[in-house]
Amino acid sequence: MDSKLISGKEVSAQIKAQVKEEVISLNNQGIYPKLSVIIVGENPASLTYVKGKHKDCAECGIISENIAMPETVSQGELLAEIERLNNDDSVHGILVQLPLPKHIDEYAVINAISAAKDVDGFTAVNVGNMNIGKDCFTPCTPQGCIDMLDYAGIDMTGKDVVVIGRSNIVGKPVAVLALQRSATVTICHSKTKNIAEKTRMADIVIVAVGRAGFLTGDMLKPGAVVIDVGINRNSEGKLCGDADFDSCIDVVSKITPVPGGVGLMTRANLLKNTIKSAKNCLK
Ligand code: GUN
Repeated sequence: MDSKLISGKEVSAQIKAQVKEEVISLNNQGIYPKLSVIIVGENPASLTYVKGKHKDCAECGIISENIAMPETVSQGELLAEIERLNNDDSVHGILVQLPLPKHIDEYAVINAISAAKDVDGFTAVNVGNMNIGKDCFTPCTPQGCIDMLDYAGIDMTGKDVVVIGRSNIVGKPVAVLALQRSATVTICHSKTKNIAEKTRMADIVIVAVGRAGFLTGDMLKPGAVVIDVGINRNSEGKLCGDADFDSCIDVVSKITPVPGGVGLMTRANLLKNTIKSAKNCLK
């Protein structure tokens, strides 16, 4: 069974090893890669994610700074902090952890980040450049999905890829990246008629709907590849993906596990983007 798993642990370890080497090389040239993370409020999931990001940075020799702001912070104060970081040459990456409190305009805040330091790849400039295939920071989770397919040796050229989910963070960008790899891409969402009819035609299914066990084995073509972006808790509190692993595993040729799958790739690609930004200082 194990041979069917595309391990996020393996792929992210490879990326991290490469990042560590690049950090040493940058340090030798007087550049000390640094990521600044802004977190507003105390959303437990956000606190966990941010803690993981700092741990990864420490492991790879990237300097990371945590800027914690209260839930009541004004949009003006948040924008001023971003502006300060935009102008600080020692900072290479700026990340504002989402979601933000309701009184803050998320679009305005994200787009206040300098595109050159937008290591999440969320600004309109980076999204636009990605869409037209120009150099940019690609968003970490979608890039992680592609990295896992690459690692498993799956060529996407001419393949039928079905993406389930149309979020700005995962569904839409991963569809664009798959299209750039010359896949034939279909995006399904909550209003799609008969999703199973679409997924049964797919060579690769990328599922990002945030619903435990949404994708079941009977929705797949034998030998399909499943990339599971979901991180959910089932009724017993166990961490699980959007794919029902037990019914999918016998049908697929490859599948990413949860935990130990795409989630680790998101973290690894943040490190990669921070190094990419730091390297731009050499130009
Ligand atoms: N919230 C959930 N995922 C992410 C992410 O990848 N980046 C940021 N900034 N916030 C998130």
